[in-house]
Amino acid sequence: MATPIKKQEFTAEELLQAQAQVFHHVYAQIGAMSLNCAIELDIPGIISKHGGEPMPLSNLISSLPISAKKAAFLPRLMRILTHMGYFVQETASDKKEVAYTITPLSKVLLKDSPTSLSSWVMGMLHPYSRVSWHRLSDWFLEERYETPCELEHGKSLWDLASEIPYYNHRFNETMAGDSRLLMKAVVTKCEEVFHGMRTLVDVGGGTGTSARTIAEAFPHIKCTVFDLPHVIADMPESPLVDAVAGNMFEYVPKADAIFMKLILHDWTDEDCVKILKKCKEAVSEREGKVIIVDIVLDSNKEDPKMTETQLFWDMVMMAFTGGLERNEDEWKHIFNEVGFSSYKITPLGVRSLIEVFPSIIHNYGASSSMYVMNNLLKKASSYM
Ligand SMILES: C[S@@+](CC[C@H](N)C(=O)[O-])C[C@H]1O[C@@H](n2cnc3c(N)ncnc32)[C@H](O)[C@@H]1O
Repeated sequence: MATPIKKQEFTAEELLQAQAQVFHHVYAQIGAMSLNCAIELDIPGIISKHGGEPMPLSNLISSLPISAKKAAFLPRLMRILTHMGYFVQETASDKKEVAYTITPLSKVLLKDSPTSLSSWVMGMLHPYSRVSWHRLSDWFLEERYETPCELEHGKSLWDLASEIPYYNHRFNETMAGDSRLLMKAVVTKCEEVFHGMRTLVDVGGGTGTSARTIAEAFPHIKCTVFDLPHVIADMPESPLVDAVAGNMFEYVPKADAIFMKLILHDWTDEDCVKILKKCKEAVSEREGKVIIVDIVLDSNKEDPKMTETQLFWDMVMMAFTGGLERNEDEWKHIFNEVGFSSYKITPLGVRSLIEVFPSIIHNYGASSSMYVMNNLLKKASSYM
C-alpha cells in the first residue's frame, strides 16, 4: 500500500518511479495473456512430458504446432513466463542452448491434471468475460444495471449462463477448475470439519466437483449437488453424488451440513441473509452446520500480494455478480442477522473455510478460534 503523501509537488525521480509503477499495473494484463497463450499452446504439458529433464528450446519448438515463421518469437514468450516464475531456464545437457523445466506455478496449469487451473485461467480471460471490464466506468455513470456484465450483455451472469449453453459450460468448467485444486486441500487440511457427518448438500454446487471430492474422501457421507436447472443439466453423471435442481432462495434440501463454495460472495448482504436462513432451516438446530468457502478480507494481512488478490476478487464480484468480498466483521454481521450462534474460520490460501453453527452447545470443546454470536460477539474461548 502506498504511504500517504500530503505534498502536491514531486521530484523527477519520484515521478519516474510512479511512471514505472503505472506501466507495471497496466502491463500486468500482458502477463495474464502470455499465460493464456502458453495454456492454449499447451507449453506446460509439453515440457512436463519431457521425462523430468530440462527440455531444450529446439525440442520445445519442434513439439509445438506453431508456424516455422514464429519459432524465433518463442524464446521471448518463454522469457517473460520464466521471469513470472512459470518455468525455470537452464542450460541443455549439450550446453549449446537453453532448456526449460516446469515449476509449481506451471504444474497447476497442466491440462490433464485433476487439479488443473487451466480452464479457470482461460474462462477468466475469455473475451466474453473481458468485455465487461470495458464497461466499468459506463456502469458507474448509469443507474439501471446491477453490474458491468449486465450493462454489456443485457442480463445477469446467471441468466446468460441459462440462455447460452456454450457460456454455461465454459462457466461451469471455470468453476470446476478451481474446485478440483482447492477441494483437495479442504478434505485433507480440514478433515475434522466432516467428522460425524452423514449427509451434505452442496448448495450452488456447480457441476459437482466439490461434492465428488468430498464423497471420494469420506465415502460414508451421502452428498447431493443443488444448483439451477441448466447447471444440473450440464453435470456429468456420477454414482458418488445425487443432483437436485432448484432455486436456493426458495428451498434448500435438508442435510447434516450445507456446503457453499463461492456462493455468498456473489450476493448482497440482504440476499446472503435470505440464503443463509434457508440453509439454517435445512440443518438440525442442535447438530447441524453450514460450511462456507469464500474470501475473508485481510485474512493474510502480512502478505500484500494475497491482500491484492482478495481485492481483485472483490472487483470481479462488482463487475460480474453484484456481490462483494467481506472482512470478518462483515461476515459476523450477516451470521448474527440470520440468528447463528457461533462460527469458526480456517484460512485456506486466499480463501477461508468458515463453519457456522446454529447452536453453541454442539460446539463446546472446539478450538479457541470459535466465536460466539447472539449479541455476545466475543471469543468463545472464555465460555469453554
Ligand atoms: C461462482 S459459482 C460456484 C460454483 C461452485 N460452488 C464452485 O465453487 O465451483 C456460483 C453457483 O451458484 C449457482 N446459483 C446461482 N444462483 C442460484 C440459485 N438461485 N439457486 C441455486 N444455485 C444458484 C450458479 O449456477 C453457480 O453454479
